[in-house]
Amino acid sequence: MATRAATKKRPAARKSSKAVVKKFETVLVEKKDRIAWVIMNRPEKRNAMSPQMHLDMNEALEELAIDDSIDVVVLTGAGKAFSAGQDIRLYFRGTTGDPALRYKSKKASHHWRWTTLSRFPKLTIAMVNGYCFGGAFTQVTACDLAIAADDAIFGLSEINWGILPGGIVSWNVVNTLSFRDAMYYAITGDTFTGKEAANMRFVNKSVPKARLKAETIKLAKKMMRKNPVAVRYTKEAVRAVREMSENQAADYLNAKSDALKWSDPENGRQKGMVQFLDDKSYRPGLGEYNRKKK
Ligand code: COA
Repeated sequence: MATRAATKKRPAARKSSKAVVKKFETVLVEKKDRIAWVIMNRPEKRNAMSPQMHLDMNEALEELAIDDSIDVVVLTGAGKAFSAGQDIRLYFRGTTGDPALRYKSKKASHHWRWTTLSRFPKLTIAMVNGYCFGGAFTQVTACDLAIAADDAIFGLSEINWGILPGGIVSWNVVNTLSFRDAMYYAITGDTFTGKEAANMRFVNKSVPKARLKAETIKLAKKMMRKNPVAVRYTKEAVRAVREMSENQAADYLNAKSDALKWSDPENGRQKGMVQFLDDKSYRPGLGEYNRKKK
């Protein structure tokens, strides 16, 4: 007779899909388990952003924005850097005297780092794995959430070579850091660690580097359990109201709430109410409703 142990059902193997990889000249995209890892990929140059990287990023992100196989985009860097900012040789010196290339590079740089990422239709997380300098602050600010390695090094290094935090970096830092910290780091060029970035609220949290990827996946998965349309509308609303008066915000939020009600295919609002008030199967204060339940 088979023993109880022998007949005991083995837990189903956890489903994990194979990674789908797409390589651009300077960017790597790995899609796995509905997360797209968008990797700035010039590790030997500390992922400094060249004009080519700006073109590659625009192409990669435009594809991901409409890719139904993913829910979350994680932006990170290959090797020991997140990004050492704009490539001083190729982006600055290399476009001097070539106004057409300067214009094209500047436009492409702003487009993916701010216009696209700050309005991205899916949730975005910046995973700051190491050096993050100058221009790279813009894409960290543009992402909805940011998580850093404790020992990542951040710096507004522009002052150290005689320029100011341009593009929109100065605007990004006054909007995310306190005025005092923004001013201090912009004019001293001092660096700060991932741990300090978390204390200053430039990133949501920092963790030891060995746990950075696992913690990022955990955060992505937590967000993937929520109603995706509600997440998208919420992130759009939180960004939009920052620049509104109270009256405008109240009016906008009413309209936005109505728009969410009509455009949510899973009718989350109704499901959430039924599961709490009638089924008593969850508590909205403590977690999300069960999206799979009919
Ligand atoms: N632009 C152009 N090249 C850069 C770069 C940048 N922003 N950051 C790094 N690189 C290049 C270096 O010139 C070097 O190239 P080489 O191997 O051909 O000489 C390579 O990347 C490695 O850099 P290195 O300085 O040797 O690495 P490190 O690990 O000792 O130091 C940094 C890393 C990021 C601290 C250092 O490279 C640095 O200060 N970079 C500039 C950061 C900056 O000011 N960015 C703001 C631009 S607005």
